Amino acid sequence: MGSKYNLVIVTGGSSGIGKSIIEDISKLDPEASLFNLSRRIPASFYNDPKRVHLECDLADRACRIRVLDDLERRISDSTQQGPILLVNNAGFGIYGDLGRNSPAEHLELLEVNVCALVELTTRLLPLIKKRGGAIMNIASTSAFQPTPYLATYGASKAFVLSWTLALNEELRGTAAHAIAVCPGPTKTEFFKRAGFAKRVVPAGYSHSPEQVSSMALKALERRRTFTTTGTLNKVLSLLVFILPLSLRTRAAGKFIRRFRSDPSN
Ligand SMILES: NC(=O)c1ccc[n+]([C@@H]2O[C@H](COP(=O)([O-])OP(=O)(O)OC[C@H]3O[C@@H](n4cnc5c(N)ncnc54)[C@H](OP(=O)(O)O)[C@@H]3O)[C@@H](O)[C@H]2O)c1
Repeated sequence: MGSKYNLVIVTGGSSGIGKSIIEDISKLDPEASLFNLSRRIPASFYNDPKRVHLECDLADRACRIRVLDDLERRISDSTQQGPILLVNNAGFGIYGDLGRNSPAEHLELLEVNVCALVELTTRLLPLIKKRGGAIMNIASTSAFQPTPYLATYGASKAFVLSWTLALNEELRGTAAHAIAVCPGPTKTEFFKRAGFAKRVVPAGYSHSPEQVSSMALKALERRRTFTTTGTLNKVLSLLVFILPLSLRTRAAGKFIRRFRSDPSN
């Protein structure tokens, strides 16, 4: 597989899946210029002029606008003209009853998982269409059914999946395309950050961020519209669609509820 992007912009490259995507792209094309948007700087961005970290709290719209202005200035100052890859990867979950976390926390999730993705994509879209390239949005298998106890998260990922598919359709016949990646459970900081009390993923039923990155980049190269990572996740997601929506929701709720510190609550 060969990378064909001169300019790669990744959100959430400081850990997990985003970090692996940055490393894989760098191996495929060491000459590509890389921009990362997150709060923490990825360790590999120190002392490498090809890697630029733009510190940004993606939940903060004023910060997003400032950083996007800076990014656009840097792009127009550069002599590079080739295709652009935008990877909207940053995201987080909130685990628990809907009333447990504050409204502000749920809105923060929507800002990062949904609003930032829409803002970055729509702002960079004219340039991506002009120079050619792709938008890769990281959704989740949580997008396939409502996810009680992860309600805001699952709904945010359903938005990402639906929006990306619609965008890709609109891009038909242009030099750009879009892909939604739906990983299943992946061993990253995600679960701890979301507030899960115990180990969520049975050994053997999870991927490493490196595996997810590799599957995502293969699907991107094949110009897939969307991909679910791994055979088991693909099979489970097909089975899920056989069930009526109400049963799907109940089954998901039963499964996710098991990871509470006291499931009898
Ligand atoms: N792990 C899974 O099982 C799984 C499954 C399906 C989908 N996903 C999705 O995969 C994506 C990556 O998650 P991950 O599993 O790699 O988790 P992770 O290791 O926790 O990484 C999350 C990344 O998002 C960034 N981020 C979070 N809030 C941010 C904010 N306010 N502003 C800027 N950046 C922010 C973090 O950067 P900073 O903290 O440095 O800001 C970090 O780099 C997410 O969209 C997640 O929903 C994960």
